[in-house]
Amino acid sequence: MTLVELRRKIDTREAIVGVIGLGYVGLPVSCAFAESGFSTIGVDLKAARVAAINDGVSPLEGDEPGLPAVLAEVRRTQRFRATTDVNELADADVVVIAVETPIDADHRPRLEALVAACSSVATTLKRGALVIIESTVPPGTTDSLIAPLLERATGRRLSEDLHLGHCPERVMPGKLLANLRGMSRVCGGASRETAETIVALYRTIVNADLDATDCLTAELVKTAENAYRDVNIAFANELALICEAVGGNVWQVRELVNKSPGRHVLLPGAGVGGHCIPKDPWLLIANARDSVARLIVAARQVNDSMPVHVVDLVCRILEGADRRIGESRIALLGYSYLENSGLPLNSPSIIVAERLRELGAHVVIQDPHVPEHARSVQDAAQGVDCVVLMVAHAQYRELDWVTLRGLVRTATMVDARNIVDEAAASAAGFTYGGLGKMASRGLTPAALHRR
Ligand SMILES: NC(=O)c1ccc[n+]([C@@H]2O[C@H](COP(=O)([O-])OP(=O)(O)OC[C@H]3O[C@@H](n4cnc5c(N)ncnc54)[C@H](O)[C@@H]3O)[C@@H](O)[C@H]2O)c1
Repeated sequence: MTLVELRRKIDTREAIVGVIGLGYVGLPVSCAFAESGFSTIGVDLKAARVAAINDGVSPLEGDEPGLPAVLAEVRRTQRFRATTDVNELADADVVVIAVETPIDADHRPRLEALVAACSSVATTLKRGALVIIESTVPPGTTDSLIAPLLERATGRRLSEDLHLGHCPERVMPGKLLANLRGMSRVCGGASRETAETIVALYRTIVNADLDATDCLTAELVKTAENAYRDVNIAFANELALICEAVGGNVWQVRELVNKSPGRHVLLPGAGVGGHCIPKDPWLLIANARDSVARLIVAARQVNDSMPVHVVDLVCRILEGADRRIGESRIALLGYSYLENSGLPLNSPSIIVAERLRELGAHVVIQDPHVPEHARSVQDAAQGVDCVVLMVAHAQYRELDWVTLRGLVRTATMVDARNIVDEAAASAAGFTYGGLGKMASRGLTPAALHRR
């Protein structure tokens, strides 16, 4: 099959689309292709996930507006089905690969799942098929690892009877379908014609810019956009630490800095969680780390240090109230990594809870969006010595501090997101400590390291 023939099959929806990996990326994209009229086959190693999908039930955690309805519809029309058997992709004209690409404890990329997925489909891949890597990968991976792997395993020549591209995802959990349909994408191809074919394919599901480019550029764009965000968050966090050290208030400073043209200092906070931002900077620098990457590494270190810093703030405010951390009860409000969402993936709260428990504290976690922690705030606050605001959930902006004052044992709080009305909490009798402004509450730098 030539690319011209594939373009025709895309235009007429005769093309069969295979998707390997049915997680946060692979399931929505499968549903979107099926909804737009392609016969779509999804493959996953997890039999339970495949069974749920075939029953029309999304196995993804968290609320995903629109996805259950589209999945139910494409199962009803039988445009989409899932299987554990990769050989069922033998007739696929396009194979999208959306398996996990994590990092290990040393921040090195683990590409085993990607290599395994490519190796397994290579044995069954139809002549002239187009393989598209949607997984996020270190720059250079598609050209230097995947292309030779596929050529070797299939015995075919790249851009002759085998086509390859990289079209990374920009979705965020909680908005998977909306992001998929509405956000622009880079479409990298091993040849210009391949990139343009990928544009034609994604035009059937994406209502935004689709930019044809090469695979390396697409890999760089995807990882750079998340590294950029991470570095900017790290700047805000470092500014918060500086403000604490000199007795300033980062929230005021940020607001006033942002009045200067072209300045957009982000919000500081308790750390960076989620799937992509803590990981993708390491993927970006994976093949350059020892030579040139310094800022991105430093930014990761700053952001990773923030949950530990929140624990320091808790210790300091308890010390000011003559409470020892090891004998304290702490209410942690917010367990997800993102405001108004229920996904705890890599959440800073996980680290804060662990550290506090290591120090001997009793920790009660509350989060209205995370089912296992969905107790009431009042329940969580019973008898505690410190209330810690970790996530800017809307509900936490409305807390009744007078009622909470009657429930806690010691009236202290640490606000890591600047969402509490400090005057109201103080008037209710709480000693307020805020990330990025705590020293301005009379807690001097000299007290910083005392326990
Ligand atoms: N989750 C996000 O928000 C997001 C956003 C943008 C990009 N990405 C990137 O997309 C990729 C996929 O992420 P995800 O969150 O969907 O991962 P996920 O863990 O939710 O899903 C991956 C799926 O692939 C399956 N799988 C692994 N190896 C397989 C194989 N050989 N054959 C068949 N199935 C296999 C797993 O069983 C799993 O169900 C990653 O590279 C990630 O960095 C994720």
